[in-house]
Amino acid sequence: MSALLSVRGLSAGYGGPPIIEDVSFDVEENEIAVILGPNGAGKSTVLKTIFALTSVTGGAIDFHGTSLVGRKTSTLVTIGISAVPQSRNIFPHLSVDENLDVGTYAAPPADPAATRENVLELFPDLRAKLKQPAGELSGGQRQMVALGRALMCEPKLMLLDEPTAGLSPAYLERIFDLLLDIRKTGVTILLVEQNARQALQIADHGHVLVNGRNFASGTGKALLADENVRRSFLGGAAA
Ligand SMILES: Nc1ncnc2c1ncn2[C@@H]1O[C@H](COP(=O)(O)OP(=O)(O)OP(=O)(O)O)[C@@H](O)[C@H]1O
Ligand SMILES: [Mg+2]
Repeated sequence: MSALLSVRGLSAGYGGPPIIEDVSFDVEENEIAVILGPNGAGKSTVLKTIFALTSVTGGAIDFHGTSLVGRKTSTLVTIGISAVPQSRNIFPHLSVDENLDVGTYAAPPADPAATRENVLELFPDLRAKLKQPAGELSGGQRQMVALGRALMCEPKLMLLDEPTAGLSPAYLERIFDLLLDIRKTGVTILLVEQNARQALQIADHGHVLVNGRNFASGTGKALLADENVRRSFLGGAAA
């Protein structure tokens, strides 16, 4: 079976020198795949490139076997891809409910009320906060709003850039558990993470980038056991 998302020899940047070069990996249907690597490695650039927010200078991105290169971001949402950026991923002055509503604009679901109910079942904490400005919520709750918004268009594939950034260890675990719950609903997840060890524990596959290029790829388990990856990215010894 072919992959849901296939990235092949991808090079891209922001108009200057290439930031990512010859990057390749596959994301299988209904898996959690994680992109790891040091600051500045080009992790966000890979996600932004898939979401048509950079200039592609080479290679291919296929989704369900059709090319995404040259498509508009707004089109990608209509074919089942949604994204949560690394920062500024909510509208702080809008209520939680309004933030969720924004998620339906680009690709309205068939039954928005039912979709909203499904999202609130995943994030019960948000029910009591629906009328509150999203900017008043805790960091973890704001990430839930961002994830909820991205789910409101009923995506097949979610691109998540550091959904646990800045969260306490307890909240970090909550968010990772939520990603497993989201996956259970049939959504495929490609995420970028700094919390490498924990991310590899929930991920089916991991892809390590260094200097904009592939450094290592494997199952979560294999990367956790990989001496080279452990030494460079997981702080040394095995857990
Ligand atoms: N909008 C932009 N315009 C020009 N250069 C950019 C832009 N965004 C990122 N870059 C450059 O691309 C390189 C990779 O950045 P990117 O944000 O993809 O890294 P990252 O792996 O996500 O890092 P971090 O872990 O810090 O989030 C950096 O050198 C950065 O300065
Ligand atoms: Mg980044």
